[in-house]
Amino acid sequence: MIRPEELQTIAVVGLGKMGADWVTQLLEGGYRVIGFDAEPGARKSARDRIRSGLEWVEKKKKAGERGFAAGALERFQLADSEEAFVSAARDKAQVLLEVVFEDLALKCDLFARVVPKLPAETVVWTNTSSLSIEAMGLASGRLDRFCGTHGMNPVYQMPAVEVVTHRELEPAVLSFTLAVMEKMGKIPFVAADVPGFWVNKHLVPFMLEAMRALERGEITVEDGDKGLKNSLGHPQGVFKLADYIGADTMYRVAMAMYLATQDPRYYPPAILARMFQRKEFGVKTGTGFYSWEGGKPALARSFADFRIKDSGTLLYVSAP
Ligand SMILES: NC(=O)c1ccc[n+]([C@@H]2O[C@H](COP(=O)([O-])OP(=O)(O)OC[C@H]3O[C@@H](n4cnc5c(N)ncnc54)[C@H](O)[C@@H]3O)[C@@H](O)[C@H]2O)c1
Repeated sequence: MIRPEELQTIAVVGLGKMGADWVTQLLEGGYRVIGFDAEPGARKSARDRIRSGLEWVEKKKKAGERGFAAGALERFQLADSEEAFVSAARDKAQVLLEVVFEDLALKCDLFARVVPKLPAETVVWTNTSSLSIEAMGLASGRLDRFCGTHGMNPVYQMPAVEVVTHRELEPAVLSFTLAVMEKMGKIPFVAADVPGFWVNKHLVPFMLEAMRALERGEITVEDGDKGLKNSLGHPQGVFKLADYIGADTMYRVAMAMYLATQDPRYYPPAILARMFQRKEFGVKTGTGFYSWEGGKPALARSFADFRIKDSGTLLYVSAP
């Protein structure tokens, strides 16, 4: 088993919001990173998104570390096909980190295709927010070397990493993972492989209940966030947080948790399903619970037209 101090290169698949954040974090930690995304648009913008994350990190550093962002970015290698990614990962990486859409079938297919082509000692991490680690580990054929490393959004700003374990996990892989996270200055904690693990088991029903209150007309977006921010000490409030996460990811996570548990508290409210269908994904599309301009919330939306008054206002919603 590789020792934490021997780790040099991590291969990251999926370079959307969280993938780019993780690359930023790993580069800040001094590692080399090989990255790939199936979408040409995501590949094209990845370097700029990672650079802006690194510039944020650089601003937090002392004056002596100026120029850090440009230097760190040189340790990032972008692959332009899955084949090129797998080949580079096979030759250089000791860890594979998966950060693609929250979709169990998609993730399982990816692991079944990619992991058997990597060296047997490769450690496999997934950033899933809620899906079964055991199911994905089985699909990869390397359950004993497979665990969750659920980073919070934005990864390089939020200290916690939820390390999700299971019965078949090799103890050395768990201690390696915890040590690497600590070495990067993260605060890892261990959680069980149950739907939503620890953080989303609490956060998701809380956020969905806020959305239901909004669609019942009990609260506005602005007052909802002001209230929670200044009472429970939330840094931004529940609706702004949903816009940072994205209605697409929120919907997928909630639906996955509902399907896994049949617990109605996780069933995505109509307001979220409609935003998912309309591609109102928050910060990344410019419209969510707020409208966004240049990464800042410009206006809180009223949602009066979304209000559920009677069953006639409930729409059938399908995936976009
Ligand atoms: N957004 C959040 O706040 C948040 C927080 C914690 C965890 N997560 C988890 O992180 C993961 C990614 O979420 P996100 O918000 O970054 O989503 P995202 O939509 O921003 O990015 C996902 C990326 O995966 C790519 N992708 C899809 N299939 C692929 C494949 N087969 N090969 C390569 N790339 C592929 C997509 O093109 C996209 O760029 C999910 O599992 C999500 O649950 C998200």
